[in-house]
Amino acid sequence: MTSNYKIKDVGLASQGQISIYLAESRMPTLMKIRSSFEKHKPLENISIGACLHVTRETAALIRTFSLGGASIALCASNPLSTQDDVAAALVKDNVSVYAWHGNDSEYYDCMRRVLDQKPNILIDDGADLIVLAHKERQKALPTVIGAQEETTTGVNRLQIMSCKKLLKIPVIAVNNAKTKMMFDNRYGTGQGIISVIKALNTLFAGKTAVIAGYGWCSRGMAMRAKGLGANVIVTEIDPIRALEAVMDGFRVMPMAKAIKEADIVFTATSCKDVLTKHHFIDMKDGTILANLGHFNVEISVEDLEKLSKKKVKINEYVEEYELPNGKRLYLLGEGRLANLVILGGHPSEIMDLSFSIQALTAKYLTVNHANLENIVYDVPEEIDKNVAIAKLETMNIQIDTLNKVQEAYVKSFEEGT
Ligand code: ADE
Repeated sequence: MTSNYKIKDVGLASQGQISIYLAESRMPTLMKIRSSFEKHKPLENISIGACLHVTRETAALIRTFSLGGASIALCASNPLSTQDDVAAALVKDNVSVYAWHGNDSEYYDCMRRVLDQKPNILIDDGADLIVLAHKERQKALPTVIGAQEETTTGVNRLQIMSCKKLLKIPVIAVNNAKTKMMFDNRYGTGQGIISVIKALNTLFAGKTAVIAGYGWCSRGMAMRAKGLGANVIVTEIDPIRALEAVMDGFRVMPMAKAIKEADIVFTATSCKDVLTKHHFIDMKDGTILANLGHFNVEISVEDLEKLSKKKVKINEYVEEYELPNGKRLYLLGEGRLANLVILGGHPSEIMDLSFSIQALTAKYLTVNHANLENIVYDVPEEIDKNVAIAKLETMNIQIDTLNKVQEAYVKSFEEGT
C-alpha cells in the first residue's frame, strides 16, 4: 500500500475490491490486454498521472496499467463521481489516489498533487489536468511524453489550444476513436437517461423529452427516450445534425419553443447556458432537468438559484426549485453529469471498449512519442480496429472476410457497368 494518498477511508477497500472484481468480469477485452501487459510490461518505468472518474471501471484500467509496469497517481475528473470504496481499494493496490466523493474545495489541489509526481503520460477526462499543467505547472511538462483525452468536451478544449499553438505536448484524442465515440457516447450516455428513473421513478411513456444537441451522446439519449415511449424533441445549432434528427423522426425546434412542452430536459452539448432563466420561467410545473454533458455549465444552476424563492432537497440526487410563479422544477445531481452521479457511470461492458483504447494508446505513446508533434492526434486506425476485433471475439461473434477475387475487386477501378 502507498503512503501517498488522500481519500475518504482506506477501511472501505474490501467493498471496493468486490466492486472492481464485478467490473473486471464484464470487461473481457481489457482483461485480454491486461494479460499481454502483464507478460510484456510495455509501461515499465512509465509514470502515469490520471484525472478520471474514480469508478470501478477506471480501477480496472488503472490496475491494467500497474500490471503493465507503470506507477500511477490518480485524481477525480468530477467532484461527485468518485466511488470512495474503489479509491480505497486502489490505495491498497499501491496507487496514489487523491479523490473523495463531494470534493469541491480541493478539486484542483488533488490535480496538483498528481502533477507533482512528475507523470510521463497524462490521462484526462475533460482536459482539466492538461490545462492546469499548461497554466501553472509548466515545470512538469518536459518529462511528459504525451497525453490522452477521454471526452468530447476535453478534445474540443485541446483542439483550441492546438490551433492557438499553446499545446506543449502531443495529445491523442481517445474520444474520437470509433470504438469509443460510437459506443460509449451513444449507448453509454444514451442509457444514462435512466438516471431520471433511478432518481425519481418517473414514467417516460407519453411524456415529452427535450434533448439538447444531436451529437453521439444526444443521439443515443434521443433513441433511448423514444424507446421508453417519450415524444422526443431535439434542439440543435448545427444544420446538418438538425437535419439528421429530423430524418431520424424527431421534431426539431429552438429551445425557447421546445421547453414550453417539456416534461424532461436533457443536455449534452459541451456548451454553456443551454438552459437559463428565460427557459426556466417558461417551463411547465414539474419539469425535470438532467445534464449528461461533461461540465456543470449547461444548465445555469446560478440562474436557477437566483430565480427560485424556495429549494427543497427531495432525495440524495434531486433538488426541487420553486419559482416565483409557483412552478416547481426538479434538478438532478446539482446539474453535474447525472449518469455519473446517479448511476455510477457507464456500464462496465461499454467502458471495456473505451478503456481498451486508453490502454493501447498508452502503449502506443511509449513507443512512438518521439515522432509526435505538439498537436491533437486521432487514435491510429489499427488500434481502433483491433479493439473491435477483440470485443467481437469476447462476444463470440464471427464476421465475414473477403476472398481473393473480392479483395482484388475492391482495390481496383477498371471494372464498371
Ligand atoms: N465515464 C462514463 N462512465 C464512466 C465510468 N463508468 N467510469 C469511468 N469513466 C466514465
